[in-house]
Amino acid sequence: MGDCKKYLAEAQQKIQNENINIIATTEVLRTNPKHIKTQNIFYNSGVLIETNLFPENLLDILKNIEAKTGRIHRVRYGPREIDIDIVWWSHGEYHNNRLEIPHKYNFSREWVRCLTAELIPENHIDKKKYTHMKYKSIESGEDFKKKKAAKEKISMVTVYDYSTALILSRSSIDTVLVGDSLGNVFQGQKSTLPVTLENMIYHGKAVRRGLPDAFIVIDMPFLSYHTSVHDAVQNAGKLVQETGANCIKLEGGSEFINEIQGIIRAGIPVMGHLGLQPQSILHLDGYRVQGRNPEAKNKIIHDALLLEKAGVVAIIAEMIPADLAKELSEKLTIPVIGIGAGSEADGQILVINDLLGFNPDFTPKFVRTYSNMSQIILDAIENYNSDVRSGNFPSDSESFK
Ligand code: KIV
Repeated sequence: MGDCKKYLAEAQQKIQNENINIIATTEVLRTNPKHIKTQNIFYNSGVLIETNLFPENLLDILKNIEAKTGRIHRVRYGPREIDIDIVWWSHGEYHNNRLEIPHKYNFSREWVRCLTAELIPENHIDKKKYTHMKYKSIESGEDFKKKKAAKEKISMVTVYDYSTALILSRSSIDTVLVGDSLGNVFQGQKSTLPVTLENMIYHGKAVRRGLPDAFIVIDMPFLSYHTSVHDAVQNAGKLVQETGANCIKLEGGSEFINEIQGIIRAGIPVMGHLGLQPQSILHLDGYRVQGRNPEAKNKIIHDALLLEKAGVVAIIAEMIPADLAKELSEKLTIPVIGIGAGSEADGQILVINDLLGFNPDFTPKFVRTYSNMSQIILDAIENYNSDVRSGNFPSDSESFK
């Protein structure tokens, strides 16, 4: 609040007055407020400093500088004269009850990603971690194209529930999909065909509660856009109205071009989905790579161009050869987001249960598992089980007096 640029300059001067060496300073970056949206734009600036101080002692000095620069504590996340955070230090992580470096919300803050990417020295071991987050995440349909133009890969995962959404809200993931794959991984169905519009709305609402600020894409389930343009627009509208999702996704190309145009005309951003289309499983010879023969390949290219012309924000390309994904990416200005489509796609999406390793019996070639959740959960449950049986849980400190 007030003269933001003046406060930033004053705070930097006061840091120097403490005999702390400022090695580099960034431009001032203006960002929209995240929590209380009615307040003014935020002004952010980063400094890289050299000091012998331990983070804890530096924090005391910075708090003092905040007070001297005029900061008064008012509403949380509300307007303030100055707020000085330690977001990074060269020794890695630092955690105690006053200070967390990197802060748990850092990766979801655009200004932290931009400023640290600019400041961290070339040769620093953590550079990779920060610099791949140089540009902002997706905030509107337009940002998909902008990220592709900036040659920045788009990272996307599926999510179906509040608790996972809350964890994702602390991450730097670009955007999420409430996928109808919830039929498989949440409901235990053999395909996505039994998933209903009501199911999607139920999960979409839960995800929105955990990710209040994210750009959320939500799947239109089987039969919700197949009967007419009118039904497609109605159901797409219901999905975004009731869940607060920002964009719908539907499978198919030329067959549904009128429906896609109708939804876009109604003001709802659409993401396309080509290649393997799980809702067409009854027509298909299993969940296999698509677009291998020239006819199938040409149809995918033709459909992709048609979708781009209709105005979709991006296209998911599922299980197609890597060279076809590359060709699509080269032909389109909108991003191709691959799943089982090789590394040349403009972004990647995975089903979150697959990437977290929830099901050790489901290991398709295109999935990389980044965790072993089935074992982690099993170990935790076994430990709990044995503590309950031995009387080790609950302890006195876990009981009420
Ligand atoms: O439903 C889903 O999860 C999807 C992804 C596989 C792209 O459509």
